[in-house]
Amino acid sequence: MSESYVYYNGKVVKEDDVKISVRSKAFNYGLGVFEGIRAYWDDEKQQLYGFKLKEHYERLKQSAKTVNLDFDLTVDDLIQGTLDLLKANKCRTTTYVRPIVYNDAQDIGPTLDVKDVKVVIYTQPLNKYAGKPELSVGFSSWRRISNNQLPPRTKATAAYMNSALAALETKRAGFDEALFLTDGDHVCEGSGENIFMFKKGKLVTPPPADNILEGITRDLVMKLAKEDLGLEVEERSISRSELYAADEVFFSGTAMEVTPIVAVDHRVIGTGHQGKIFKDIKKLFFDLTVAKNPKYADSCTPVYETAKVGK
Ligand SMILES: Cc1ncc(COP(=O)(O)O)c(C=O)c1O
Repeated sequence: MSESYVYYNGKVVKEDDVKISVRSKAFNYGLGVFEGIRAYWDDEKQQLYGFKLKEHYERLKQSAKTVNLDFDLTVDDLIQGTLDLLKANKCRTTTYVRPIVYNDAQDIGPTLDVKDVKVVIYTQPLNKYAGKPELSVGFSSWRRISNNQLPPRTKATAAYMNSALAALETKRAGFDEALFLTDGDHVCEGSGENIFMFKKGKLVTPPPADNILEGITRDLVMKLAKEDLGLEVEERSISRSELYAADEVFFSGTAMEVTPIVAVDHRVIGTGHQGKIFKDIKKLFFDLTVAKNPKYADSCTPVYETAKVGK
């Protein structure tokens, strides 16, 4: 097997050379923020495209700033580092890119003022994240963390205990994935994805005030629906029973991409199969991930030969 590399504090280095101590505050208290990014392989063009790199690294910088883990590397440094890393790892398949910014200070206590900020990025081949093409989901009894508990928009590593508990509970109950309600009983999101419903001719998704992560795929789906499909799109609170009665429901997210939900709490959604609006969005989405749609060409950064800093 060829050597695996990671990006570590500004340099591409051998993965085996990077160690994390059992004493690290990141390991002890989950003091970190992260991103999940995809690079899409296009077999036809024999090219790998970093997808929405600028948006992901801007969100990472903002997450780090919010939790007082700011670091000096710029968005352009991180983009260039990612392109170098994908090349060093000779990635020639669709790949997940995982950047993590963490507090590696090693004294006792969950502090964000006493800190030693490290930045690491690794890569992992990832084709489909969902185990199935159509999902049956259920609401968890765990509520989503709120903005004044652990800001969901920061993508904090510690927040994913909340996600993991919900996913564990609903998987044990036989569902494919979890849905969260907010403390105020509004539909929130999945354990690692945003949710959309199509109902009465409108595409509806919960607003940031309902404690969602402001997903980059969510933004894109809203834009595609408005500009390319001419749909009315609403960001507003959704109640659980309203979701049961939707014509279509689907997830959006970097790992989950766009994936249809065909049952919620055992209530069949629409026809029980992916609907027309979902199919239209899916076609637009997957074409643009490999630069087939000139309008969205700046979402894709080629990794090989012509790779350059920027979008
Ligand atoms: C909790 C949560 N919600 C939503 C999303 C989807 O966000 P994005 O489309 O930016 O990947 C993610 C994935 O990062 C997530 O972890």
